[in-house]
Amino acid sequence: MNPAPRTVAVGGEHPYAITIAPGLLHDAGALAAQVRGRHALLVSDANVAPLYAAQVREALHRARADLSIGTFVLPAGEASKTLAQFGHAIEALAALGASRDACVFALGGGVVGDLAGFAAACWMRGVDCVQLPTTLLAMVDSSVGGKTAVDIAQGKNLVGAFHPPRAVFADTATLRTLPARELRAGLAEVIKYGAIRDARFLQWLRQERESLLAGDDEALALAIAASCEHKAEIVERDPLEQGERALLNLGHTFGHAIETEQGYGSPDNDNLNHGEAVAVGMVLAARLSAALGMAGEDDAETLRALLRDYGLPTEIPAGLAPEALLARMRLDKKNLAGRLRLVLWRGIGRAEVVPDVDEAAVLAVLRAG
Ligand code: NAD
Ligand code: GLY
Repeated sequence: MNPAPRTVAVGGEHPYAITIAPGLLHDAGALAAQVRGRHALLVSDANVAPLYAAQVREALHRARADLSIGTFVLPAGEASKTLAQFGHAIEALAALGASRDACVFALGGGVVGDLAGFAAACWMRGVDCVQLPTTLLAMVDSSVGGKTAVDIAQGKNLVGAFHPPRAVFADTATLRTLPARELRAGLAEVIKYGAIRDARFLQWLRQERESLLAGDDEALALAIAASCEHKAEIVERDPLEQGERALLNLGHTFGHAIETEQGYGSPDNDNLNHGEAVAVGMVLAARLSAALGMAGEDDAETLRALLRDYGLPTEIPAGLAPEALLARMRLDKKNLAGRLRLVLWRGIGRAEVVPDVDEAAVLAVLRAG
């Protein structure tokens, strides 16, 4: 028998629930109840669609025989999070004849979630989006909080909108088909919550490493729920990232620079994926904090060792020039008035946003990195 679903409520102006349990993609009643009108577009990628799209379509049809359901499948990987694929998703909504009460279902990882969410944000100035995350990373981070976006050659997530989902259903049974590398990438974002604001959670992650890496259902469900609670608490207070939400970007300015400079990751190349780049970025942020006298070197080393023990990279990949990475960092969305604004920390669990960070100090860390 499946365990009872865990739920995390996200409050604020547009409240919604995150439901976490195995088997949710078969829950015809719960999925169909999200569709206010007659049109649903299922967006997925070429890895996930063959595994799970039929069951979602079948569940929707079972509960609502009147629904017109379209499907749009993009190639897997970050390289698909483009304006061109966004355009194709919009065309799929047009072909479906989707009206303002249509619902977009984002079935996949963060790439699908961000792109489908952005299409939902833009179609007729905004239709409903239900997130059906199938990677750990999407369950603990990208499906929650309403940030939607696509990448452009100049940088990641530079074109997008805030568009909170109508609901999030994290079917943890889908994690059983997730490649081990992608599971580890998700664990990097789980570790991020501990690094930012919860030293005890980080301690728990140290203890549960083997069960989490082995894909233990109960340990993963606990990690997902705890991560979603952290994220919900922050985004309901600061949905538009005018303050504390920026803390969720620990390691991201460095990580996005690596991703952009390397060329985005895909199943066909060895470039770092998002979670891996964030792992490296968090180590660099911790080292920079130490270099600026905000925190001890020992905290940076503790975080690095934990990420390494989780099988995550902790060094800048070979061949990336520090100056080029710094140039990428100058285009980060957190920067104000052309000055670098980074998430650093005072030690484990105590992240803070630091305006106007000295570029020479950043460059020194990148050179050592
Ligand atoms: P992803 O969507 O590329 O998925 C990773 C890989 O796993 C892909 O090849 C995908 O096809 C495959 N996959 C997905 N689910 C599977 C399953 N159940 N079984 C087998 N294969 C499966 O990557 P991701 O790590 O999920 O997401 C990364 C993206 O999320 C980045 O673009 C990042 O910028 C974005 N992101 C957004 C937010 C936000 O707040 N919106 C937060 C964090 C990350
Ligand atoms: N992943 C960062 C955020 O949602 O704000």
